Amino acid sequence: MDKIIGTSGALPFTTGDAILELSYLLAALLFVYGLKLLSHPETARKGNFYAAGGMVLAMATTLLLHKNNLHESIPLTNAIIIVISIAVGTVIGWIMARRVKMTAMPQMVSFFNATGGAASALVALLEFPKANMGNTGSVLVTLLGLIIGSIAFSGSMIAYGKLDGKVGDIRSKNMKYVNMLLLAVTVALMLFMMFSGHAPEELNWHIYLLFGLSLLYGVLFVMPIGGADMPVVISLLNSFTGIAAAMAGFIYNNEAMILGGILVGAAGSILTVLMCKAMNRSLLNVIVGAFGGSASGETQAEGTMKEITLSDASILLAYSQNVVIIPGYGMAVAQAQHACRELDKLLESRGVTVRYAIHPVAGRMPGHMNVLLAEADVPYNKLIEMDDINPDMPNTDVAVVIGANDVVNPAAINDPGSPIAGMPIIHAHEARNIIVMKRGRGKGYAGIENTLFFDSKTRLLFGNAKDSLHNLINEIKNL
Ligand code: TAP
Repeated sequence: MDKIIGTSGALPFTTGDAILELSYLLAALLFVYGLKLLSHPETARKGNFYAAGGMVLAMATTLLLHKNNLHESIPLTNAIIIVISIAVGTVIGWIMARRVKMTAMPQMVSFFNATGGAASALVALLEFPKANMGNTGSVLVTLLGLIIGSIAFSGSMIAYGKLDGKVGDIRSKNMKYVNMLLLAVTVALMLFMMFSGHAPEELNWHIYLLFGLSLLYGVLFVMPIGGADMPVVISLLNSFTGIAAAMAGFIYNNEAMILGGILVGAAGSILTVLMCKAMNRSLLNVIVGAFGGSASGETQAEGTMKEITLSDASILLAYSQNVVIIPGYGMAVAQAQHACRELDKLLESRGVTVRYAIHPVAGRMPGHMNVLLAEADVPYNKLIEMDDINPDMPNTDVAVVIGANDVVNPAAINDPGSPIAGMPIIHAHEARNIIVMKRGRGKGYAGIENTLFFDSKTRLLFGNAKDSLHNLINEIKNL
């Protein structure tokens, strides 16, 4: 069956090998196509399905057709252990994914990411004793896989603990120096192992020390980072896991693993950069510094906050022509998305055009608002990206800000001294009227005052967003 169709080096190249290579190519195409589909909410589910299909294909063909250096198949006992492990992992992952609440999604991503990092680190740990120390490139790949995979594992576990409220922030002025020293020692140990001329068996304890130092670095690196910055860090750790997986792919000379790892690494890096850009912060600032917080350079708001009664708010909304809803973190906290959709439908039934303005970093995770609104069955064509909606804001009768703060703070564009100066915002202040729903005088994530709330066109509807929306709906129904 498995006919020899050529040679690869000294080894025969059979039909099985050709099918394996082809299946990796197909898997790679499925990964890339899946990623493309993931970039739009409407096609994202399909994208996930295609990419997962590529992974299943690569795993199945590897299990059935992979040959080692002596051209032997995977022994049956090993294959059985692998299948059982995959089955156990699949069941655990399936149960976790079904049970997880939408707001706990970042924790789950973090946990899954940790397992990916651990797997790559363990591959490197197991393969190092067999390393050919004369081949510097291959030793470097193995050790980097171990270091990066371990950092991704322990860092992601700490991120998971922080997001879940199990681990607190530990900040100290000297922490960054300790971290830099630790990283320098880790790199020095790696270089020593590569160039000391020792055989792997003579570096037995060194490899475990390197493993331990990398794990410790992962913990200390994530520990001081503020909880709300965690999405950026998770995305960064995600790219680390991808890189570590690609390193593991190099160890086994497995194209599917290398490509999958590179795609994850690249996607994670791009997302990290995009998130930092949308917040107008550098990655270094996220890692070593807290956002805002200090009064220096902060815009002092002048004027008073003016409240609006429910009946005035309902009349304003019901008799306007077009309304733009601007959701933010507070809407997620209040779980007000369904009530929001109800208000939207009610207004549309009265002939009001309702659209949603989506800021890329509204909330606390990428796509947070899209996910929430999709949960409430808001059609995708009503969700308008910041850059597309801003030109329409001056023609908007009412901008309804639901639990958003930083993403509508005009200080970002008109106060160069503000901690959020330069961050792109939704121009709610240009609308003819602005209604802001929030509970009280709480500040946003950046911890600074928002001049929008003191604007002469702005009225505040105080209370939990979900309750305010329900009250508003009842009021409009009675008009
Ligand atoms: P924030 O600036 O965090 O403001 C949230 C507002 O919601 C607060 O003013 C708060 O005021 C209000 N609020 C809280 N609970 C509420 C409730 N139950 N009902 C009604 N209102 C409630 O939110 P944003 O405008 O969405 O901005 C997001 C921020 O997070 C940005 O600074 C962004 O850079 C940062 N960030 C985002 C991400 C991603 S990827 N999305 C990642 C890291 C950091 P009260 O306390 O007075 O109610």
